[in-house]
Amino acid sequence: MERAQETGNMGDRTGTKTRSGSDELIFFVNGKKIVEKNADPEMTLLTYLRRKLGLTGTKLGCAEGGCGACTVMLSRYQTHTKQLLHYASNACLAPLCSLHLVAVTTVEGIGSVARKLHPVQERIAKAHGSQCGFCTPGIVMSMYALLRNNPTPMMADMEEAFQGNLCRCTGYRPILEGYKTFTVEGGCCGGRGQKNGCCMSNVNGAQNVICCAIDMYNELISHIVFVPLLPLYSTQTLSKDRKPHSLCFHGERMTWLQPDSLDEFLNLKWKHPDARVVVGNTEVGQSVKFKNMVYPVILAPTFIPELSAVTHAEDGIVFGAACTLSHMAVVLRQAVESLPPHKTEVFLAVLEQLRWFAGVQIRNVAVNGSREIQMDDGFFTGYRRTALQPQQILLSIHIPYSKKVEFVSAYKQSPRREDDISIVTAAMSVTFTPGTDVVENLRLSFGGMAPTTVLAKKTANRLIGRPWGEELLEEACNSMAEEMSLDPSVPGGMVTYRRTLTLSLFYKFYLTVLQKLRLQVCLFPIIRFKQQLSLYHPETPSSVQIYQVQQSNQDDVVGRPIMHLSAMKQATGEAVYCDDVPLYENELYLSLITSSKAHARILSIDTSGAERCPGVVCFLFADDIPGSNTAGSLKFDETVTCVGHIIGAVVAKTQLQAQRAAKAVRIEYEERQPVITIQEAIATQSFYQPIRTIQKGDLELGFKHADHILEGEMHIGGQEHFYLETNVTLAVPRGEDGEMELFVSTQAPTHTQSLVAMALGVPANRVVVRVKRMGGGFGGKESRTTLLSTVVAVAANKLKRPVRCMLDRDEDMLITGGRHPFYGKYKVGFLNSGRVVALDVTYYGNAGNSMDLSQIVERALFHMENSYRVPNIRGRGFLCRTNLPSNTAFRGFGGPQGMMVAENWMTDVAQSLGKSPEEVRRLNLYMKGDSTPFNQVLDQITLDRCWDECMSRSGYQQRRIAIDLYNRQNRWTKRGIAVVPTKFGISFTALFLNQAGALVHIYTDGSVLLTHGGTEMGQGLHTKMVQVASRVLGIPSSKIHISETSTNTVPNTSATAASASSDLNGAALKNACEILLKRLEPFKAKNPNGTWEDWVKAAYFDRVSLSANGFYKTPDIGYDFETNSGRAFSYFSYGVACSEVEIDCLTGSHKNLSTTIVMDVGNSLNPAIDIGQVEGAFMQGLGLFTLEELHYSPQGVLLTRGPGSYKIPAFGDIPTQLTVSLLRDAPNDKAIFASKAVGEPPLFLASSVFYAIKDAISAARAESGITGPFRLDSPASAERIRNACSDRFTKLCPLAEAGTFIPWSVQV
Ligand SMILES: Cc1cc2nc3c(=O)[nH]c(=O)nc-3n(C[C@H](O)[C@H](O)[C@H](O)COP(=O)(O)OP(=O)(O)OC[C@H]3O[C@@H](n4cnc5c(N)ncnc54)[C@H](O)[C@@H]3O)c2cc1C
Ligand code: FES
Ligand code: FES
Repeated sequence: MERAQETGNMGDRTGTKTRSGSDELIFFVNGKKIVEKNADPEMTLLTYLRRKLGLTGTKLGCAEGGCGACTVMLSRYQTHTKQLLHYASNACLAPLCSLHLVAVTTVEGIGSVARKLHPVQERIAKAHGSQCGFCTPGIVMSMYALLRNNPTPMMADMEEAFQGNLCRCTGYRPILEGYKTFTVEGGCCGGRGQKNGCCMSNVNGAQNVICCAIDMYNELISHIVFVPLLPLYSTQTLSKDRKPHSLCFHGERMTWLQPDSLDEFLNLKWKHPDARVVVGNTEVGQSVKFKNMVYPVILAPTFIPELSAVTHAEDGIVFGAACTLSHMAVVLRQAVESLPPHKTEVFLAVLEQLRWFAGVQIRNVAVNGSREIQMDDGFFTGYRRTALQPQQILLSIHIPYSKKVEFVSAYKQSPRREDDISIVTAAMSVTFTPGTDVVENLRLSFGGMAPTTVLAKKTANRLIGRPWGEELLEEACNSMAEEMSLDPSVPGGMVTYRRTLTLSLFYKFYLTVLQKLRLQVCLFPIIRFKQQLSLYHPETPSSVQIYQVQQSNQDDVVGRPIMHLSAMKQATGEAVYCDDVPLYENELYLSLITSSKAHARILSIDTSGAERCPGVVCFLFADDIPGSNTAGSLKFDETVTCVGHIIGAVVAKTQLQAQRAAKAVRIEYEERQPVITIQEAIATQSFYQPIRTIQKGDLELGFKHADHILEGEMHIGGQEHFYLETNVTLAVPRGEDGEMELFVSTQAPTHTQSLVAMALGVPANRVVVRVKRMGGGFGGKESRTTLLSTVVAVAANKLKRPVRCMLDRDEDMLITGGRHPFYGKYKVGFLNSGRVVALDVTYYGNAGNSMDLSQIVERALFHMENSYRVPNIRGRGFLCRTNLPSNTAFRGFGGPQGMMVAENWMTDVAQSLGKSPEEVRRLNLYMKGDSTPFNQVLDQITLDRCWDECMSRSGYQQRRIAIDLYNRQNRWTKRGIAVVPTKFGISFTALFLNQAGALVHIYTDGSVLLTHGGTEMGQGLHTKMVQVASRVLGIPSSKIHISETSTNTVPNTSATAASASSDLNGAALKNACEILLKRLEPFKAKNPNGTWEDWVKAAYFDRVSLSANGFYKTPDIGYDFETNSGRAFSYFSYGVACSEVEIDCLTGSHKNLSTTIVMDVGNSLNPAIDIGQVEGAFMQGLGLFTLEELHYSPQGVLLTRGPGSYKIPAFGDIPTQLTVSLLRDAPNDKAIFASKAVGEPPLFLASSVFYAIKDAISAARAESGITGPFRLDSPASAERIRNACSDRFTKLCPLAEAGTFIPWSVQV
């Protein structure tokens, strides 16, 4: 029940102020008082911190509250509790004006490298929990806020605190591991050990041991953290002297009114009926940012005590309308603990919903009259519309106690468990005639089945008066299937799944009530199966990492798990990323103008409206390009070929102004028929050339000798890179000779330099591209970054002023493309034993509107047999030309798609023979001396060793037995297991790219500056390179520094890609260092007892150059498709993974229970970094194969453009048990110091989770009597899992016939 108050009933309407001048906004940042005289209601805290205060430690990852990169801690005095409340919040959504008398703590405020790192910063760095580091400040601040409120949290508290934070690099495990040390489970007792001592004291009870937890607690809240804050912002000062008074802030387009009493609030609402009420701004903020909404008047009621009050009434609890969801959860939890269970059924249902509602940062600020309105199906009148009238406000929400014979449950099903919007939600309640199982009242409400919440009234009415049993269930399902129907074209799609979910969730409710009734009324017999109804496993994740310690001398850092060299700076927010470069005085901002049509001719472009926007400096179109437009981005010719195709750009004084103007440009199109999907491309033969084939053996003969032949197909969805730092370029004209300096977040500085030079019409020697570090790349910043950097350079060149652009997340996702979706068709011949004797496979990759790096199809072919010997084989690869944004490189470069299809036919073979897939895989595994379809002999193969070690470490056999038992005992949850190998070829498939350069300077003080062609994107390349140079030069790594990658130091470099950068650049650096060592030799010989510095100085005075270039090219490689000969790869990386999962057959959710990985990385250069790559790649693969789904409309519009709709794995998705073992004694003679490449190869191992899911689905299908191979496309989303678990419920919700409707999204 909600209470709304009508402002129309109030007497005086005139006393309310809307003053013409703005008030002063007073707040505190890291203990410093800020008085802002012109607070702009449209400005977010994030923009203010970064642009006005220069506090760039807080990052922008999405601007929609979905990634947590912008997390800060806010401290606010609560009038009702008279206490300071500290909470994590998203600075990207927090309006600056909402911060009056609030203290903000940012990552810079709690520690720094020079001063001292805060323990929260130090531990994430030392635990290897920071790779690219772009997410790190946000994660640090979430942890900090948790500890500030609760210095001894449980692991569960920590996991909850991270629900709103994403990391794309680390795979989360090291972050949890590092922070576990703060928790009760993983840390210290806090002085509550034996005899009040420390649990860490030695067994004999050493005296005077200082408890590390007490120490830590002191450190956590010590002077470095809070003292600067208190004198200005004490509880006393706020409560007595600085009582909040009403405020008014005027901006260009918006006025912010913050009343201090309920009366004033009501008066203001009367005066401004269209004013938006804002509390957390998590919804309104998004409308302003992404839907271009302008709200001239904002009313912020947070100062009003009545709206934050919580009242315990006789029949329930009343929450003020500005009470945050976090606070509501605390109150409800307390009530559940103190009240009799029968009274708290509703509270428990609300808590279950709150647990999975957004992330903590959102719940900490987001909220949920005096007429009372029932919150039934009449409350919501449309999407995001309620029964409240314009002049009404919400005062409070009344949540009632439940009655003795009432059972209530709530369910939420979303693509990802944590921080995700639901697909379908349900709340159900039933009351029974006392002492019976006869239904007296039943309410079944569903979200996600219409624009508003709907009640299944007809079904509920039919069931009243019926006993709670099988017959009721049957009737309920039949009736609900009819009542909860959906149009097949409904927005959001997943029609069959959503309809099935209504039945499945009711069934869960039915079983839950049955169990409770049995306890209360003892009416029912024990049911056959254990009814495991929830997949929520509260176990704390555990992990093991195993690696071989290298036997080398003490000073040699190669082979040691040293920390990423930037980790500390990343944890304190001091690491500088491209957009952190301070603003130039006369700098301008650029925004792109992009096509809204997939395939169309541009008829006209009207910029007149946009020209009137304030701050606009100029527009750019193809005619403004002084050089060549062959890169294709700015071409204002007749056609656009994808939604997001760059048509032009606007340059303005600020980002907001540029973006507003870009949206105001009107473009008229003449639409043409687009080709969107692979199937459409096949139908219209829309392919790029060449069509590649690799063939070996005699296919016809192979199929003739086969005992069985089967055919199958599979679709593998694409993937968004979702690097936390989006594409960004800052171009600075140098003022003479056409020189231009660019700061770019790119993996390919040379490529960027070439294209910018071409666009500007200058030689490459006038363009310098500089890359300090990237906030992730994963292949997405290999070629596609040039789309932006060329445009920004053209603008800077035209205006002779620095120009910057960092794409918003939605723009980045729309424009830059991702991993190629694939469709694979195969015919496989095999013997009764399971040995595969013939394979004919065809791949189709959706390349999009340009070739870009679509050579990925070649790598798919090179990996078409994954790790298996297939004597007769043919693979063909087609690249579909479609009207999607061009797809591009992505970790694995087509290899994962190629191998995924291989594992599919391998599973089919096993299933059709009724054998275990593991037995069939092992039988077909490559052995030493075998040769690949491209005729490369496998000499140093370690696949069998990885396989056997993985089988034993994972305890596969025992697990299999336990799983079979579990599956026999449980009907609605099933477990599955799979072991999958990988063999990944190392080298660029384009021969010329297999080269690298390096430049090493030794300065006269002995310090060494390294530069090489590789870029740092979090993978730890610079750290490994320092280790290499340290070993070769024989000096400590502390004397060696890498500043950046730049085209004026090392020219003509290959992109940092193909996992080969350590191999290539390491060898080039080794070459340069050896040249320098040779030059120093005479001075060492002359002074054998001298120091490094002595020899360097002596060489300098003897006029010896202390600077050298190094170069390396991979020897003995080069493959020819025509003749199927030549060495395609320098060597292969191998690995094997075993994963176990549990699926919920009713909802399609799954839980990753355990994964064991054995990976051959040769002699690891740095085991910590390599394990980080293995885990990070695995988690990215896990996203690819089980979670991440890009939805495109049939017209080619990308519908998933941010973390709200596109879900990458979160903290909760890591396997509960994760073991990573680096294969011991496996030196590789083909790469630097016997190491192996590691960036891409482990990604495919995540397919073990996919095939474990498939195994579990097979067990579910067997319950319905269905056996044998079945099609499961990737990713194994909840929808696909549920639909594949065919049962009585799915049968009631059949698919609408294809072709009879226009679907919301299509499989591209
Ligand atoms: C990352 C993220 C995750 C999310 N996850 C979920 C989720 O899991 N489930 C879900 O349901 N939603 C989710 N949301 C949506 C949104 O956060 C919630 O709906 C939230 O409860 C909105 O509260 P707020 O205070 O931030 O709203 P605001 O943006 O401040 O306001 C929301 C609306 O309510 C109106 N309003 C606020 N107070 C009053 C009042 N007293 N009287 C009248 N009108 C009022 C406002 O005018 C506005 O129209 C998510 C949002 C984000 C950004
Ligand atoms: S930038 Fe704020 S949550 Fe992503
Ligand atoms: S380290 Fe987390 S996103 Fe890169």
